Amino acid sequence: MSEHHHHIAVLAGDGIGPEVMAQALKVLDAVSGKFGFTVSRKVAFVGGAGIDHCGKALPEETIRACEEADAVLFGSVGGPKWEHLPANEQPERGALLPLRKHFGLYANLRPGVCLPALTHASPIKNELIEGGFDILCVRELTGGLYFGQPRFREREGDDEVVVDTMRYHKSEMVRIAKVAFEAARGRRKRVTSVDKANVLTNSLLWRETMIEVSKDYPDVELLHMYVDNAAMQLVRNPNQFDVIVTSNMFGDILTDEASVISGSLGMLSSASVGAEVALFEPIHGSYPQAAGKNIANPMAAILSGALLLEHFGLKEEAETIRQAVDHTIRDGFVTEDLARPGERSCTTTEVGDRIRARI
Ligand code: IPM
Ligand code: MN
Repeated sequence: MSEHHHHIAVLAGDGIGPEVMAQALKVLDAVSGKFGFTVSRKVAFVGGAGIDHCGKALPEETIRACEEADAVLFGSVGGPKWEHLPANEQPERGALLPLRKHFGLYANLRPGVCLPALTHASPIKNELIEGGFDILCVRELTGGLYFGQPRFREREGDDEVVVDTMRYHKSEMVRIAKVAFEAARGRRKRVTSVDKANVLTNSLLWRETMIEVSKDYPDVELLHMYVDNAAMQLVRNPNQFDVIVTSNMFGDILTDEASVISGSLGMLSSASVGAEVALFEPIHGSYPQAAGKNIANPMAAILSGALLLEHFGLKEEAETIRQAVDHTIRDGFVTEDLARPGERSCTTTEVGDRIRARI
C-alpha cells in the first residue's frame, strides 16, 4: 500500500479534452481508492476555455495552479471557435508553447506503439508489422525553430521577408541526449538520432553532441539518420527504431507520423519533463468534430494518468491502469476508432466505466 499524497493541476482544455479527462480522473480515483494513496487536484482553464473564461489562453491563475502542483494532467486545446484570433493568442500557441517554456519542459516523450492486437488499425501494410512495434520519440521541446530569436516579418521594398531562427545551445542538446539514452537503457538500448547534418550547422553540433554523450552509455547503440530518410524509414520498417531523439521541429513532424502509423492515435499519451513540474497529456489533440458526442477514445487520457503515477514512483499502480486498459481492449470494449469493421463500438463513458471496473 502506498501512503503518498500528491497534488495535481487538471487542465482539461477544449474539444474532447473535458470528456476524456473525466474518464482519466474516474480511473485515477479508482486506483487511489484501491491502493490507498490520494491525489488532490486543482482544476484550471487553459486554451480556448482560458480565453472564454479568463480572457487568455494561459491565464495567470492556471500558471499558479501548475506551479503549486506536483504534476499537470492536460487534456487538449484548440478548435474552430478561436481560429479567427491572432496566431499568438490562439489556444495552441498561446497556451502550449508558453506552458512548455515557463516550466522548462524541455523533453517530450512520445510513444508510437502498435500493439500486436491492433495492427489491423495501422495504415501500414500488416505484413510489415506483424508483431506490432514500439517506438519512443524523445523530442526537444523548448528550443530550436520554435523559440529562436530573431523572428519577424517585415517589408523589404516591394517584397516581404520573414525570419525564424533555429538556435540551440550545446547544453540543450546534451540534456535531451541524456534523456534519450536513459530511456533507451530501460528498453532495447538503441538510440537513433535524427538530424539534417548534410545541410544544417545546427545538425553538425547535434550529431557531435550525441556522439559525445553516447560515450557515457557504452551499453546503448547510437545510430544517425537524416530526417527525410527517417520519415521514410518509419513507414517502411518501423521496427528498426527503439528510441528516436530529435530537435523540436523535426520531432513535431515525426511524432505525428509515428502516432498515425501506430493506428492507435486515441491510445497514445505523452510526458513532457524538465526542471520541476512534469506534464502528461494524450497526444490526440482536441478533435473538435467529436466534442460533446461521447465517442472519443478516452484511453490516451487514462494512460496519461498512468504515466503521471509512474512519475510519482507509483509503478504498480500505473501498471494496474495499463492492464485494465489492455483487458478492456481484449474484451472488445473500444470506441469506434479501434473497433474492427462491423463490430459494435462503445461510448467514451462506457469505455471509462469498463476500465474502472477492471481496476
Ligand atoms: C504538438 C502540437 C504543437 C507543436 C502545436 C499545437 C503548437 O502540434 O504538440 O505537437 O507544434 O508542438
Ligand atoms: Mn505536433
